[in-house]
Amino acid sequence: MKKILFVASECVPFVKTGGLADVVGSLPKYLDRTRYDVRVILPNYHSIRDSYRKEERVLYYFQMDDRVYVGVHELVLDGIVYYFIDNERYFGGYVPYYDMFQDLERFAYFSKAVLSCLPLIGFRPDIIHCHDWQSSLVPVYLNTVFQGDPFFRGIRTIMTIHNLRFQGNWDVGHIRWISGLPDECFMPGRMVSPFQDRNVGFDGWNCSMLRGGIVYSDYVTTVSRTYAQEMQSPAFGEGLDDILNWRSDRLLGIVNGIDYDIWNPACDDAIPVRYGIDDVSAGKTANKRALQHELGLKPDDGTFTLGIVSRLTDQKGLDLVDRIMDKLCFRGIGLIVLGTGDRHFENMFRYYQDKFPCQVSARIMYSDDLAHRIYAGVDALLVPSAFEPCGLTQLIALRYGTVPIVHEVGGLKDTVEPYNEYEERGNGFSFAGYTSWELLDRIDHAHSVYRDRPDSWLKIQKRGMSEDNSWKMSGAEYQDLYDIL
Ligand code: ADP
Ligand code: GLC
Repeated sequence: MKKILFVASECVPFVKTGGLADVVGSLPKYLDRTRYDVRVILPNYHSIRDSYRKEERVLYYFQMDDRVYVGVHELVLDGIVYYFIDNERYFGGYVPYYDMFQDLERFAYFSKAVLSCLPLIGFRPDIIHCHDWQSSLVPVYLNTVFQGDPFFRGIRTIMTIHNLRFQGNWDVGHIRWISGLPDECFMPGRMVSPFQDRNVGFDGWNCSMLRGGIVYSDYVTTVSRTYAQEMQSPAFGEGLDDILNWRSDRLLGIVNGIDYDIWNPACDDAIPVRYGIDDVSAGKTANKRALQHELGLKPDDGTFTLGIVSRLTDQKGLDLVDRIMDKLCFRGIGLIVLGTGDRHFENMFRYYQDKFPCQVSARIMYSDDLAHRIYAGVDALLVPSAFEPCGLTQLIALRYGTVPIVHEVGGLKDTVEPYNEYEERGNGFSFAGYTSWELLDRIDHAHSVYRDRPDSWLKIQKRGMSEDNSWKMSGAEYQDLYDIL
């Protein structure tokens, strides 16, 4: 049996700010447990719900490098073993992330503590599967500081990139100081870009922890096939396209799945009326009515209602939405937004809610339950992201008979097939150019099909609902990768 250790900073049901948590929380459940012993290791954030923290068992504690405390706690949930790295100073706050300066130190500590605790807790993974920059120093430590220890010999690493925008960047001097990594790691081409300004001097060079993970891991993956291509170009590469090109023979795009136990309109406790593919129209209408009532919107079954469930950041294409909001509302279209993020976008949606109170609802908050009710109650979900490594909300929408309207990038391109009325194909609507006019044009098209050709709309919904976007296929692709390493 192969032993796999997932290392991540987020995981459902313990802590979530975005899709990373969904993936880390669901993929292990869908891997073949007769062939893989998959365990997950996370920081023991204070913000993890008490009901879970109380169940944790202290497995071991020690002083790393004779100076920093590392506690290792264990919890078994649904047959999966979770380890938590405990340290009050680093993880005692109420949110998982602080500012980048502090997070660099917190996650450098986390990555080193993960490796340091393994010989003590009696679990020697064959493969360590790292997720995003917060765990990206694991392959770096493994191949440098820990290299001489026979316990670690032969352990393979996978670096999965969920979002290139977040890299853990600072100058060499600082990252060298907080990580204690040897100078060789900071040579140009390793954690430092080879295209640095030579005049700045070694300590001033910009250093990327994620770059380290990419260079030192055995395999690099990302969360869709299209993003795997895009990330090798300067437009999407966020300054790492050189190294991603260099590693392209060991770079794989595997599209995310969603947890079909959590996201299932036929047995979803959070929605007022449950439904399946056979009663999708009636089910969605009932949920829409309840949602309009809950949010204080004008009750009207016929209002074409769009939803956005998202972090409210630059990535998500909200500048395009800003430019078309008045036009949407003058057309009688409704919009329900659930999200938190940049103050600018939060206030933008509050403004439109004040301006069009019967049509627009802006819930600037994080709520799992409301997210479920929105997926069930809106007609279409907007995902106009400027870039999107995979995107899970469009997959959830498809499962709920909600039609996605997306920008053709990354995983959105791989999972949403644009509606073709001549061949009766497609599960959503998409636009290629990142402009507000194209977005508006697609929304108008979707609106006209919804209003004038309900039979075609129903077929689009049913095509989406009958697809399999669970982990069945993608889980098998990860297993193939584990097998070749
Ligand atoms: P990203 O990881 O870039 O934020 P994804 O589409 O991969 O985007 O995943 C977003 C996940 O977070 C989805 O499960 C979505 O339902 C959830 N989500 C985002 N914002 C909120 C919110 N305000 N309340 C509840 N769930 C949210
Ligand atoms: C990131 C990406 C998103 C992806 C998620 C899970 O946060 O922004 O596109 O779906 O990770 O892989």
